[in-house]
Amino acid sequence: MDNRKKTVKDYIRTIVDFPHEGIMFRDVTTLFADARGFRICIDQLLHPYAGERIDKVVGLEARGFIIGGAIAHQLSVGFVPIRKKGKLPGATLTQAYTLEYGEAVMEVHDDAIQPGEKVLVVDDLLATGGTCEAGIRLIERMGGDIVGCAFIIDLPDLGGRRKLEALGMDVHVLCE
Ligand code: PRP
Ligand code: HPA
Repeated sequence: MDNRKKTVKDYIRTIVDFPHEGIMFRDVTTLFADARGFRICIDQLLHPYAGERIDKVVGLEARGFIIGGAIAHQLSVGFVPIRKKGKLPGATLTQAYTLEYGEAVMEVHDDAIQPGEKVLVVDDLLATGGTCEAGIRLIERMGGDIVGCAFIIDLPDLGGRRKLEALGMDVHVLCE
């Protein structure tokens, strides 16, 4: 295919039976590894927010850190990681969320966002929306004002988009 005509989706690889049998894993490392792929991904994630005030970019562990760092650099604003429990060194706020089997906990440094700051949340993939919902709750507990939640991929059958929209979020995805 002519490289100039490739879309973001064309750079994403599917790995069958990872991490478990029956799972089709959407692997964005092939998108990130390609200079043009990574550039158009970052540009397209940012496109709807052109001209909007954004004070902080929040990335959800782990692949949200890669795109979040690039987006924050592009906007010349700060980057804030939301991490799985036990990884952040300072005082944190914690938020439990539901997984397919059981619960997990996300954390953020409790001084990472100031009340009234405009926040863009980013991650590679939206599935059930549980991870992002936990992130939204943490940001809102700090008084952050979420401008939008941007993802490279949405898995529409898992209902994440509906869940986030029901929370009043503007959801932006590049492909399904
Ligand atoms: C994946 C993905 C999202 C989350 C989406 O991360 O990168 O962060 O799952 O799922 P959800 O919408 O159902 O919450 P994962 O939990 O595999 O963690 P990792 O990025 O640290 O590997
Ligand atoms: N890729 C990356 N993360 C995921 C996936 C996937 O296909 N499904 C659930 N989380």
